[in-house]
Amino acid sequence: MNKNFKDLVFSGVQPTGNLHLGNYLGAMKNFVELQKKTNCIYSIVDLHAITIFQDPKELNNSILETVAGFIACGLDFKKSIIFNQSSVSEHAELAWIFNCVSRLGWLNRMTQFKEKAGTNKENASVGLYVYPNLMAADILLYKATHVPVGDDQKQHLELCRDIANKFNNDFGNSEFFPIPEPLIHKNFSRVMSLRDGKKKMSKSEESDYSRINLQDSEDEIKKKIKKAKTDSSAIPSDKKDLEKRPEALNLLNIYSSITSSTLEKTLKEMEGKDFSQFKKKNSLMY
Ligand code: TRP
Repeated sequence: MNKNFKDLVFSGVQPTGNLHLGNYLGAMKNFVELQKKTNCIYSIVDLHAITIFQDPKELNNSILETVAGFIACGLDFKKSIIFNQSSVSEHAELAWIFNCVSRLGWLNRMTQFKEKAGTNKENASVGLYVYPNLMAADILLYKATHVPVGDDQKQHLELCRDIANKFNNDFGNSEFFPIPEPLIHKNFSRVMSLRDGKKKMSKSEESDYSRINLQDSEDEIKKKIKKAKTDSSAIPSDKKDLEKRPEALNLLNIYSSITSSTLEKTLKEMEGKDFSQFKKKNSLMY
């Protein structure tokens, strides 16, 4: 489908201060792998961030912290392009054109808007609503062919593909934009809170013990792992037996991701051990 386009990866990350293990395993670790194989462009998407109110000073700090995090995690600005979205005005310009290509009916289906707008939809910014059109502009501005995305962004990438298709059809050039493909992260599962295995690890959860920040010291990380919620059963050999043990599953998933292994292999390695033994091993790795 995209044979006339050179492989190019594009991804965007919103500038949030205080990056944590979920950001690293969910995005950055994968970005670093991709830059070894392909041309990559990574953007800190501040125009997306302002769809919800941001304090200007804090936003500026968060942008710098995010780019520092990128570099600390191994993104190499000699290999990949790393830039701030608002410094390239063409993102906003193409987004406007896409506002005229994209359909209300398409945007009305976006589940993230519904979640973020909450019960008071009338009071949400128009930007929050058309946010997926800007995301399509980010990707298609560079004619990117591949987009690493997490689960929560799959629907937005579908919309980007719809926009590219409609634009190509409307203007009679089936090769104008590529139809970008999602790169779904294999062997990755979402990183959950260390206090509640059913909630995503998040910078906004009150307890700092719920997350591992990229800026935490080794000692802090060990302490957090030690205190992480688990249960008293031993580690099973079959992952089905973890279905009702979300905290246990989360720690085992984190271990698997960090060691670039799979849950199945981790279970083979750890089967029969209890979590105090496992945690010792886990915190030794940092
Ligand atoms: N919407 C994405 C998020 O909130 C960030 C993003 C903006 C993005 N533009 C993008 C991701 C382009 C991939 C490609 O996480």
